[in-house]
Amino acid sequence: MSYETLNIDRKDKGIVWVTINNPPANALSDNLMNDFERLIEELSTDKSARVVVLASANEKIFVAGADLKGMISGGSNVAGKDSAIAAQSGHMQKCFDQFATLPIPVVASINGHALGGGCELAMACDFRIMAQGRGKIGLTEVSLGLIPGAGGTQRMTRLLGRAKATELIFFSKRLDAEEAEAIGLINKATTPETLEEETLAFAEELAEGAVRAMGLAKEAINAAEGSIEEGLEIEAKAFEGTFKTGEPGIGLAAFFQRKKANFLPKK
Ligand code: COA
Repeated sequence: MSYETLNIDRKDKGIVWVTINNPPANALSDNLMNDFERLIEELSTDKSARVVVLASANEKIFVAGADLKGMISGGSNVAGKDSAIAAQSGHMQKCFDQFATLPIPVVASINGHALGGGCELAMACDFRIMAQGRGKIGLTEVSLGLIPGAGGTQRMTRLLGRAKATELIFFSKRLDAEEAEAIGLINKATTPETLEEETLAFAEELAEGAVRAMGLAKEAINAAEGSIEEGLEIEAKAFEGTFKTGEPGIGLAAFFQRKKANFLPKK
């Protein structure tokens, strides 16, 4: 199968190396989301696939999150409740959950910024390996007047606990690889030069193991964390609710003007 925004490299030992290539920022555009869905479909019937690696073709960005530019240029009314961003969020939630429930290990190889939906995608993977010094990872949505709407509120809380997740989400914290490793948001920080080689070695070690057992363990681990479905539904409703607050209009305008948003009421 061929994809518009993904390059697929089938390596030895059943490793499917997926490189995201959606310039300029690997934003989660409709094209990329459609390709992810087709990829999941392809992988779910491919018995030779043992481990999936998600990587990026962009030098300093893994994935920059929801396609903010596409939203604005698409004429979407960010203050209106029928915003296309809300639809995009629901689409992303479903799609990322399919990576989280894929019955083989999935590894994110994070070479640069993994912000907003980029962080949410990485958290839907089983492992995160990140290069130091090229970019930051974090849920940045609140700085735009939005909330994480692709599973981030659920997955970060499960990964890090409520106290840390609240702090990182409310302050839209962007962490470097060392900070992210220290709190367990990523599994391993590497140098930029060794990221690919270390990710491949890690994926090979997984691929040499009993990947079917890992898939079944994944199903049970997901259940141990409690059902995510209800949380995702509440997150989707809360995400839609942001469009009734007027804050996304301020946050998104500031982003494109390259300014810090000021959400204080006008005097
Ligand atoms: N959606 C669409 N386009 C995006 C984007 C996004 N999420 N993030 C970046 N871009 C675009 C920029 O508008 C810019 O386009 P231009 O060259 O046409 O002006 C291009 O990608 C490069 O981004 P730029 O900001 O100039 O690069 P940078 O190296 O200074 O910073 C980031 C890179 C990723 C740190 C920065 O773009 C950023 O913070 N993006 C938003 C991340 C975010 O909060 N995502 C959550 C969305 S809910």
